Amino acid sequence: MTVYLGADHGGFELKEALKKHLDAEGYKVIDCGTDSTQSVDYAPIAEKTCLSVLSDDGSLGILCCGTGIGMSMAANKVNGIRAAACSDHFSAKYTRLHNNANILCLGGRVIGIGTALELADLFVDTKYEGGRHQHRLDMITEIEKSQH
Ligand code: RB5
Repeated sequence: MTVYLGADHGGFELKEALKKHLDAEGYKVIDCGTDSTQSVDYAPIAEKTCLSVLSDDGSLGILCCGTGIGMSMAANKVNGIRAAACSDHFSAKYTRLHNNANILCLGGRVIGIGTALELADLFVDTKYEGGRHQHRLDMITEIEKSQH
């Protein structure tokens, strides 16, 4: 599976750790930037990462900023993206099982690297359950459609 990574300066170090970790686990990892701790705006990086995920069937993305929140707000503006900012194991697992989230957002200034790597593992290893959850996701898609 391919995992697309994106970060601003607040999430850069975490992204680098995720890249090394997921690569060692055998995932194909594609880095959508940024490439340093120099201050950079998160929205364009979220957009680029999300569009990459949407154009690559079955792929997932992980976005890192200081809190994970700005990235999740920007990502959720992209039609077809279901981004979840998570700081705990239960949420990282259930946002795949129930929400079929395709983007995990992590806060580099909120959680430690060890926790972040575990949340990423849970996220990429967990499959969407489908079933009763699908019509709820369809409702989200309907909201997207009604905005146009
Ligand atoms: C950057 O200072 C910080 O605002 C950003 O990384 C993120 O936390 C926004 O939500």
